[in-house]
Amino acid sequence: MRRAVQPPRDFFWGLITGHALSLRKSRLNYMYACLKQYGDFMEMYLGKKRTLLVNDPVGLKYVLFDHSKNYPKNTPGYQRVAEVLGQGVFTDIGEEWKNGRRAIAPTFNPSKFDHYFSLVSDETKNTILRMKNSRSVDGSINMSSWSTRYALHVIGRSLFNETLENSFDIISKKLSHLIDLTEKKMTYITPFQTLSKRALLKDFNLTLKILDEEIEKIIAKEKIKERKPKENMIHALLESPLNFTDKKILSQVKTMIFAGHETTANVIIWSFYFLARYPQWQDKIYAEFRDRNFSISGEDDLKNFLTINLFLKEVLRMRPPAWSFGRVAISEDRIHGEVVHPGDLISISPFLIHHHPDFWENPEAFEPDRFLKEPTPYTFIPFGAGPRICMGERLANLEMCMFLLQVIKEFKLTNSSKSINVQMNAQVSLRPDQDIYLELEERQ
Ligand code: HEM
Repeated sequence: MRRAVQPPRDFFWGLITGHALSLRKSRLNYMYACLKQYGDFMEMYLGKKRTLLVNDPVGLKYVLFDHSKNYPKNTPGYQRVAEVLGQGVFTDIGEEWKNGRRAIAPTFNPSKFDHYFSLVSDETKNTILRMKNSRSVDGSINMSSWSTRYALHVIGRSLFNETLENSFDIISKKLSHLIDLTEKKMTYITPFQTLSKRALLKDFNLTLKILDEEIEKIIAKEKIKERKPKENMIHALLESPLNFTDKKILSQVKTMIFAGHETTANVIIWSFYFLARYPQWQDKIYAEFRDRNFSISGEDDLKNFLTINLFLKEVLRMRPPAWSFGRVAISEDRIHGEVVHPGDLISISPFLIHHHPDFWENPEAFEPDRFLKEPTPYTFIPFGAGPRICMGERLANLEMCMFLLQVIKEFKLTNSSKSINVQMNAQVSLRPDQDIYLELEERQ
């Protein structure tokens, strides 16, 4: 039996706000500081709402796997995400979720991966070519922008046979803006209408309309194209015997575009950041690739590249894009013996468990070799766990691995004076707080 520890409530307002003001200031920093001080099983309040922070492997397995039926995803956080994406496979619960997941699953069938391998190789080549021609006057390159563009092309081509290049600005910028606005909406804890709140809602609704219209255009174009059965995700949804409505199809497509590019792009961006800081890892990855004659025989072969896999795991440990997510309790239960009431929120943070000092030696140090040893189950969960585990893990690993390998093959990467004092910006996903610029020197 363990009791969830409650950190002191907010100074002065705590009786009303609970811990909301401290969380609002910097959610990640506050939660991490509390983990260090109060441990991995905590209780916090957002106003009157009780949240249990479960960040130990036994508790995580219990919530995400063993008793996952009692802990669905309809939390206020996911409802906010659904205001942008609509109700799709990421946010749905119950039968709706099962139907969506079943309809989308063929998109990730192992038989598709030869095709994904060749399109990822192709996009990697194209992006590197375009990057070479895009140096700014001072010679630096905006790696954030190229990584996002690459990730959007890959998701577009793998799910819809379209690079989405013509819609890049709208999709990427509007989605990103909407996510920023969603985060701001989440932190408005007063129920009153203020001028700034009204302006924010107006901006939100207008941006969402532009985004939806753009994606509806992509779907409409795809509808009239001849394709093999279930050739891409839109067709798998259109052909489903479940007769999804247009609104549902729009939500599923938005969901996949968002889930499929924002996360992967951020891992690639953080990877560039770490490669420039730890050039010895560039050398190790390069040497291993050179020893294999710069050849990759297929998606399966990538598992045999030891150094890039160690490196990527460490980036995912240090900077998991889905750094925090939640669940809500349906019926009364006990976690570690502590009573859970119906309606209580459960907060899970891959970032916190990835920095848990009992399971990770020197957790703040960047040490990819730590993955030479298998981590304890449920202490490394960048893709989540249990029935709601990420659908795109295999595709994400393929596209991250390929792009990084080929960039390292072509260039030596060094920091640029444009990206100084880079910090984490922990919103819906964990991004750097500024674009990452690097200097790229072509290898001979
Ligand atoms: C490095 C890249 C990625 C990371 C770190 C990541 C992480 C995650 C995590 C942690 C979850 C579970 C959230 C929860 O349990 O509440 C999730 C769910 C999901 N991810 Fe990913 N993801 C990545 C890439 C992708 C890609 C490329 C796709 C699609 C092409 C994708 C599609 C999904 C979907 C559809 C779900 C919802 C699954 C469900 O609820 O049944 N993800 N992802």
